[in-house]
Formats: sequence, C-alpha cells, structure tokens
Amino acid sequence: MSVLVLTGSARQGSYTRALGALVADVAADGALAAELTALPFFNQDLEGTPPAEVVALREQVADADLLVVITPEYNGTISGLLGNAIDWLSRPYGAGVLRGKPVLAVAASPGEIGGARAVVALRTVLGNAGADLASAALTVGAVAERLDDPALRAELLAALDDAAPAAKAA
Ligand SMILES: Cc1cc2nc3c(=O)[nH]c(=O)nc-3n(C[C@H](O)[C@H](O)[C@H](O)COP(=O)(O)O)c2cc1C
Repeated sequence: MSVLVLTGSARQGSYTRALGALVADVAADGALAAELTALPFFNQDLEGTPPAEVVALREQVADADLLVVITPEYNGTISGLLGNAIDWLSRPYGAGVLRGKPVLAVAASPGEIGGARAVVALRTVLGNAGADLASAALTVGAVAERLDDPALRAELLAALDDAAPAAKAA
C-alpha cells in the first residue's frame, strides 16, 4: 500500500511540508512527491504535449494506492501552487489520474482553527476531479506547535486508517 503525499507550500521551512514529511513517515510505504514549484502554470494549450514534470507527477499519482494532499490555508482556500497541480492532475477531462483515486484531504495552519475553510475547498476541487475522497477530512490547527506532538502522530494514523486501512505502518 503506497502513499504519496502532495504538499502545497513553496516556503522554506513550510509547516505544510513538515506535516507532509510526518505523514510519509507514519505511513507504511510513504513518500513525498516532488516539489510542485517544478510544474509550469497550467495551460490548456499544452494538454496534448504535457511538460515532463507533469508527466512524472501524473505517473507518481497513478502508481500510488493512496494520495494524501495537504494544503496551507491562503485567504480561506487552497494555495495557488496546489490548485495548479490539481488542475494538471485533473486533465484530460474525464480521464485524469485523480479519477477514482483514493485521496485523503488535509489542511494545516499555524492558527488555532486555521485550515477549516481550506480543507472544504480542497475536498471540493478534488471531488470535482473525480477523486475517491476519504470520508474524514483532517485539519491541523496550531501546526507549528504540534509537529512534535505524539497525539498528532496518532491523529495521522487514525486518518490513514480511515482512508485506507493498509496505509498505516504497523
Ligand atoms: C497569502 C496568504 C494568505 C493566508 N491566509 C490564511 C488564512 O486564510 N487562514 C490561515 O489560517 N492562515 C492564513 N495564512 C497564514 C498561513 O497559514 C501561514 O503563512 C502558513 O505558515 C503557510 O503555510 P506553510 O508554513 O506551509 O508555508 C496566509 C498566508 C499567506 C501568505
């Protein structure tokens, strides 16, 4: 059961990416996807000849048994970086790699209740792209203080268990 983790922040020292690394560590066979900054802006003119970085990401997603997508909350929604990646992964229309893919949506924020709006938006776009969303969505507020919290590890394990019981490490 392979778990691929996509994270939506370009920032050095990103909490979202640190959370992604934790998810990859907690999962039985987890890996972080390549930095999404490598992807060009989505351009429908390029759909017939997608750039190599897009082809590589699509292959990684296609090969994963479970995709965990983690967004920071920007102005109450997902980051543009992540939205761009999802646009690429959602195409070609009706046949993108997200169609039928088991996906756990996660949002993180340094704010106490941060991420609650972003995770709703994330589930909306992933659902529109045809993803098979896990019933539970996860928000990690106060993420800066929680990265070393054993309770967070337990929450991540529970979320992986809910999304795909074979995904968590024994
Ligand atoms: C453009 C922008 C908009 C933001 N909007 C929100 C927001 O709506 N809610 C929130 O909790 N935090 C918001 N923040 C703060 C981010 O949660 C914070 O910068 C966080 O560290 C970003 O994630 P990262 O650490 O993975 O880069 C915003 C930050 C930026 C740069």
